Amino acid sequence: MSKKIIFILSFSIVFCSNLLANDGYKLWLQYDYIKNESLRQTYLSSIEKLVPSGNSETINVAFKELKTGLEGMLGSEFLSSPKKDVKNILTFGAKTNLPEDVILQLGNAFNEINNEGYIIKSYALRGKNHIVISGNSDVGVLYGVYNFLKLLQTNKSIEKLNIKESPKIKARILNHWDNLDRTVERGYSGFSIWDWHRLPDYLDPRYTDYARANASVGINGTVLNNVNANALILTPHYLEKVEALANVFRPYGIKVYLTARFSAPIEIGGLKTADPLDTDVINWWKEKASEIYKRIPDFGGFVVKANSEGQPGPQDYDRNHVDGANLLADAVAPFNGIVMWRAFVYSEHDATDRAKQAYPEFVPYDGQFKDNVMIQVKNGAIDFQPREPFHPMFGAMPKTPIMMEFQITQEYLGFSTHSVFLPTMYEETLQADTYQKGKGSIVAKDLDGTLHNKRLTGMAGVSNIGNDINWTGNTMLQANWFGYGRLAWDPYLSAESIADEWLKMTFTNDKKFIEPIKKMMLNSREAVVNYMTPLGLHHIMDTGHHYGPGPWVSDLSRPEWNPVYYHKADSLGVGFDRTPTGSNATEQYAPEVAKVYNDLNVISEKDLLWFHHVPWDYKLKNGKTLWDGMALKYQEGVDQVKTMIDTWDQMENYVDAERYNNIKMLLNIQYKEAKWWRDACLLYFQQYSKMPLPQGVEKPTQTLEYFQSLKFPFAPGN
Ligand code: GCU
Repeated sequence: MSKKIIFILSFSIVFCSNLLANDGYKLWLQYDYIKNESLRQTYLSSIEKLVPSGNSETINVAFKELKTGLEGMLGSEFLSSPKKDVKNILTFGAKTNLPEDVILQLGNAFNEINNEGYIIKSYALRGKNHIVISGNSDVGVLYGVYNFLKLLQTNKSIEKLNIKESPKIKARILNHWDNLDRTVERGYSGFSIWDWHRLPDYLDPRYTDYARANASVGINGTVLNNVNANALILTPHYLEKVEALANVFRPYGIKVYLTARFSAPIEIGGLKTADPLDTDVINWWKEKASEIYKRIPDFGGFVVKANSEGQPGPQDYDRNHVDGANLLADAVAPFNGIVMWRAFVYSEHDATDRAKQAYPEFVPYDGQFKDNVMIQVKNGAIDFQPREPFHPMFGAMPKTPIMMEFQITQEYLGFSTHSVFLPTMYEETLQADTYQKGKGSIVAKDLDGTLHNKRLTGMAGVSNIGNDINWTGNTMLQANWFGYGRLAWDPYLSAESIADEWLKMTFTNDKKFIEPIKKMMLNSREAVVNYMTPLGLHHIMDTGHHYGPGPWVSDLSRPEWNPVYYHKADSLGVGFDRTPTGSNATEQYAPEVAKVYNDLNVISEKDLLWFHHVPWDYKLKNGKTLWDGMALKYQEGVDQVKTMIDTWDQMENYVDAERYNNIKMLLNIQYKEAKWWRDACLLYFQQYSKMPLPQGVEKPTQTLEYFQSLKFPFAPGN
């Protein structure tokens, strides 16, 4: 080969690898080389030796992660030439494995953290500087290691460390709505990462990377399959595969859970009934549980969607949710398993406002559920809308553990095409005041158990993960997986601090990148609300797949599946009256909250049309009519996406080409779709308002008929 060709080849390899430097697979665990030389030297001189204590699989994982992370960030000098006279030592291990003199240095700290908590502490002893990462368990140590690495990833000082941290919520779980054929219900990032066909013998390395990513943010459980469950997952053929995954996840502190189809005793057990009070059914579940625990001794338990959207449940036998949940709870109790019984229930035979239907099926039964049952409640009473008032069940069941169900995948928020930073939305719900025990009874306090002194606590997030190379389709949406995990660990964290951490770990510490992009992320949720469902509008997406606008849809068999049910637009106005003059859904909230929602003068305009039917010429606080205000909000949403694009365009020099282009192309799609939303919704509502578009709102380029004619039979996730 001539020299010239070799030169061209090597040039193009370097050049291309620069352009295609990063496919996003490594998520926030990039461990990029620290370019700030003095900082890198400081870190290098503070960590000269790694000393593991203990030799469990978890400690080995921690060791490996430290090596990978530190070598990546500090370069090959790290530990490559061990010095004789080492002065700076990093020790990590659980309390039981630490030498006495190290334990002494940590004083009372072990009593101040819980079983999964960690301590990171610096001290000097006999002329040497020590950093110790410890906890009451090996998993606590692993969490400490990830958080220590994060200090370096975010360029923080590692001098004089004295950190004590514990998760505030016990079950921090991802819910995969993954089917056995590898399709993912409401999944927009490819197919399921669980390769059921090749399991249990083929263990895709991705399973390990999935576990690493989860452990790094403190997620400690995963529900592998869809809430619309297939009973086959409970057969030996599949349990063997589940067991293989559980074995991969165990060292990372992650438990496996499954969804249980309530009619499984009939479908795979050969019984004639699934009646929760039937002795054969009771025994079948007990035997099934012990079969599972024989394979997976730390199996987490079951999630159940019952009597909801056609799923079987106890009501098929004139029993109630207590009977159903307690049946499964008894089966897993001997093994310390739990049951997460979902409160997402509404009936086609019940004409009551859908938002009101779950509350009476659960709240009156407070105190009747077994100790190992948690009721899993979606953040709002309808269904994962861009904005929903908090669910009235939060705070309302003092004797029953209530866990949160957030959606990380963006079923109603533009799929994984739209860059929406969800922790701002999660934060809004977590901080909402239920007033159930007076002022300050925020949702987060019900979840962490402090409001009503609850022992079991939990949070679930419906995963946005698929087999796309970057896991979430859109690199920006990795932040939602990360942010969900951080909030499950500590529901009091601010979305701002989460965005800051994620950006630094994922891209760069450069302020010129961090500040504008953080701002872009923090505004992104309000943008989607504005261009889809401003002022409290909700569920006006096209039906079935929920892709794009469909406020006109009115021909589906179940009333509450039609967008017209939710917006109730007519010649007089728009919005769902949920005050005492309407469905009176507000009565399910504490009186202080209901009073605010009921009163047009005090309710936040962000929730206006969720609770009130308001005339088109109603005067908003800014003096504009409702119609003008709504139209301007739609326009504002579109403009916000344009600003996001302009901001991102400035960032080319800070991000590798591959991730830069991934986000850029998706933002352009988002912009197109934001305009589609604005035009379609305004043309539709204008038929009722009969008012012109105000100044400042762009004219639609298509007719309403055109938008109504659009069909998407193969939209993903359906
Ligand atoms: C929504 C979603 C369904 C899902 C359901 C649930 O209705 O569209 O796909 O099954 O929520 O949470 O059970």
